[in-house]
Amino acid sequence: MKLKIAKLPGDGIGPEVVAQAVKAVDAVCARFGHEASYVSGYVGACAIDRFGDAYPAETHALCLESDAVLFGAVGDPRYDNDPTSKVRPEQGLLAMRKQLGLYANLRPVETFKSLVDKSPLKAELVDGADFLCIRELTGGMYFGEKGRKDGGNTAYDTCIYSRAEVERILRLAFEYAGRRRGHLTVVDKANVLESSRLWRQVAREMEPDYPGVTVDYMFVDNAAMQLIRCPKFFDVLVTENTFGDILTDEASCISGSMGLLASASVGEHTSLFEPIHGSYPQAAGKDIANPVAAILSAAMMFEYAFGLMDEGKAIRKAVAASLEAGVTTEDLGGTYSTSAVGDWIASEI
Ligand code: IPM
Ligand code: MG
Repeated sequence: MKLKIAKLPGDGIGPEVVAQAVKAVDAVCARFGHEASYVSGYVGACAIDRFGDAYPAETHALCLESDAVLFGAVGDPRYDNDPTSKVRPEQGLLAMRKQLGLYANLRPVETFKSLVDKSPLKAELVDGADFLCIRELTGGMYFGEKGRKDGGNTAYDTCIYSRAEVERILRLAFEYAGRRRGHLTVVDKANVLESSRLWRQVAREMEPDYPGVTVDYMFVDNAAMQLIRCPKFFDVLVTENTFGDILTDEASCISGSMGLLASASVGEHTSLFEPIHGSYPQAAGKDIANPVAAILSAAMMFEYAFGLMDEGKAIRKAVAASLEAGVTTEDLGGTYSTSAVGDWIASEI
């Protein structure tokens, strides 16, 4: 199969980890007889520096004409502490999500046998936890009306959702739950927020369409607690944009390191695959960041974008072998560099 991949490494450790993901992709292609070709584009702070725009039209065009996007991270400390800044790297990611119509962000939380002791939670709580967080990605407070009034002294962000937006993400969540263990948890704040009440109403209406799926409804504050109290309770968790942002960072530490969690963003156009860890500027250029999340994002790309399940499995197997062999970066207590882990996994594939 011919695979046309847009490579958007972005900022911080993005370029280092995406380079390792590319090694894994090339190794899989060599083994299974596929032909990958890459086009590279700019997004985030590096795009602002070059084009004055965090998601330039050229980058969008590259994404649209590709079969999948492999993305690293955006973010730069130069912008973080300047609330007056008019352009921000994060705008590039948000524009990309919106323009590519990436309304669903799938963040699987899996645990690795060899790492259960690395988790900040007790091993018996973590061992066997395996769930999928589905975060709505193009609505809610991130994209609702926002602004200042009273001469700049009052600020607001609006959480707004239409029925159609809620329905399409819930449909996806019901379908994934049906293909997994048949258990869907809808996370909201319906005791306070009107937008959450719409989510709950729509979910209740959809329940009869999915008789094989058991649904429970959980307030987000409680969900934040249950995720660390009993992660094994969850199978598929679906929630709106902001809640999903917060809960998936929390969930990412269950497996032992944020550097392990991959994600897929899917929707109307080309799908995008990215590690959830962000740009980690303190580690940029040091060859110490954990490339596993980016490499597992490449596995998700084979599975979700190309439907090549064995290829995805080959990457996962090699990653598990590296973790068992102790070939890890310092976040997991190892002594290997980013590129050494990437090389090891590629040769294992
Ligand atoms: C994420 C990140 C982004 C978000 C930032 C970088 C804008 O935290 O993908 O979770 O908030 O969505
Ligand atoms: Mg986040």
